Amino acid sequence: MARLAVNVDHVANIRQARGIDIPDPVTAAALVELAGAHGIVVHLREDRRHIQDRDLRLLRETVKTKLNLEMAATPEIIGIAKEVRPDVVTLVPEKREELTTEGGLDVKGNIDALEAAVGELQAVGIRVSAFVDPDLVQIKASIDVGADIVELHTGTYAEAKDEETGLIEAEKIAKAAIFASKGGLRVSAGHGLDYRNVELITEIEEIEEFSIGYSIVARAVMVGITQAVMEMLTLVT
Ligand code: PXP
Repeated sequence: MARLAVNVDHVANIRQARGIDIPDPVTAAALVELAGAHGIVVHLREDRRHIQDRDLRLLRETVKTKLNLEMAATPEIIGIAKEVRPDVVTLVPEKREELTTEGGLDVKGNIDALEAAVGELQAVGIRVSAFVDPDLVQIKASIDVGADIVELHTGTYAEAKDEETGLIEAEKIAKAAIFASKGGLRVSAGHGLDYRNVELITEIEEIEEFSIGYSIVARAVMVGITQAVMEMLTLVT
């Protein structure tokens, strides 16, 4: 049975649009957990466009399931992670001008820096996940840098224009998941997954956890966050 980790960045996006203190991603995280989700995910971006340092610190104190911090492997954010100690860190690429994380991390091209970052985080008891495209070269590199988990980027699958392309992308994700699992990594998946496209990916047994944000928060605006989480749980677990 797979787990569902819910990304609450978009609750903070709505808050930041007004620059006041509602809606609160920390309150949302509590409701998400009460609805049965297995983890909370936030991305502390270098530009602090949505989640703020205070949110992360409060979440560390309040999250009862598992806190996963998405972050770029920069000295500043690594320092914060070592201090706050989320259960898991997911290393992602970060570009200031992007709307959301575009593409997976180039682990192969940054072996030395990432090996050092992984070691530093693991030394304080944090498990490290690498967010990579479903590309065997990047997965092999993730093993080489000592990552515990790979999160497979499902964005290309989610954006497929027709069923045939979707099936081809799903097949790539399945092959990548099997390769990663055989290589000793735990496997997660996420990005762009929604209530319509997630089911095909749930058929891939190696994927233990789904990290989903936007579609759940968007549905929550219409039906409430408890129902939105519960509906997704019935699809992924
Ligand atoms: N996983 C990672 C590494 C991400 O960067 C994101 C986006 O913040 C997600 C999962 C969730 O993507 P979405 O919001 O499209 O569900």
